[in-house]
Amino acid sequence: KPAGVPQASPRKVNSVGVVGAGLMASQLALVFAQQLRVPVVISDLDQQRVDKGLAYIAEQNSKQVRKGRLTQEQADALTGLVTGSTEKAAYAEADFVIEAVFEEISVKKQVFAELEDIVSSETILATNTSSLSVTEMAADLKHPERVIGFHFFNPVQVMPLVEIARTARTADEPIATAFELAASLRKTPVLTKDTTAFVVNRLLLRLMAEVQKAFDLGTEARTADQALKPLGLPMTPFELLSMVGLPVAQHVTESLQTSFGDRFYVSKNLQSLIDHGVTEIWSTDESGAQHIKDSTLELME
Ligand code: 3HC
Repeated sequence: KPAGVPQASPRKVNSVGVVGAGLMASQLALVFAQQLRVPVVISDLDQQRVDKGLAYIAEQNSKQVRKGRLTQEQADALTGLVTGSTEKAAYAEADFVIEAVFEEISVKKQVFAELEDIVSSETILATNTSSLSVTEMAADLKHPERVIGFHFFNPVQVMPLVEIARTARTADEPIATAFELAASLRKTPVLTKDTTAFVVNRLLLRLMAEVQKAFDLGTEARTADQALKPLGLPMTPFELLSMVGLPVAQHVTESLQTSFGDRFYVSKNLQSLIDHGVTEIWSTDESGAQHIKDSTLELME
């Protein structure tokens, strides 16, 4: 076990809840079902969002059939493991619940408070937050000792790292369980303190801050991406922003600016694109080729 991981016996996770049905939540539910083969419940504010999440999961499993890695029956069985609800009561049986709802502390606190009335006192409550305090999320709960950060990276199916964040109040068992769970998901877990943005986003978003400053000073997104390609990053900064989604990325940066001030930078140009309804700068066509979106180009000119 990596240094700092407690020796406590992990609990078995037979049922998982994912709160939310957006892109991150749907990817999480998919990976939990694929790797653990246990029932997974997703939920959102309305049925339309839930259905969108379920459709994403079904489509990703169908992709594996098209790639010849699953039979149709296996794909259907995996898709069938994930059910959707608009009620938190659906999490009653879950051993492990991870929230991936809007990145706003009051929303996340509310989710945990509602869950605590429904789940058992030993159910682990995890957050996929990128930039908020796990300690604060657990502060008003009856059982803060079962709250952890469990932070995945987009796309969850492919990115190997999971940051497991421990607060001063987290007990040993949830951390031991989280490490076991990450291994079952075939991820590489690292233990971090509950510090804003943990480890990876502190570094990644500093790079992104400088790129966005250059963008506001007049460097085109295309030019910045071309210039940075030789650095060997798996994705250029604006490709990454497009994948995460501009509004989500902007919101995370704002959160970091609240904690760290000038070390992070909220781009005015990006905000103006978001205000015009732009969610991505690059789009991918059927063949996998990337194109700068015409609508974005017009707005940037
Ligand atoms: N969603 C789902 N799966 C995807 C995907 C996506 N958006 N993009 C690629 N994949 C899958 C492909 O289907 C393929 O799967 P397979 O091997 O099972 O067939 C696999 O990834 C590899 O695809 P490619 O051959 O097209 O791979 P690339 O070499 O282009 O790599 C990548 C794709 C792994 C996504 C790579 O570009 C990469 O590592 N990008 C950086 C991603 C990153 O930095 N993420 C962190 C974002 S920050 C974050 O999430 C924190 C948050 O808190 C804000």
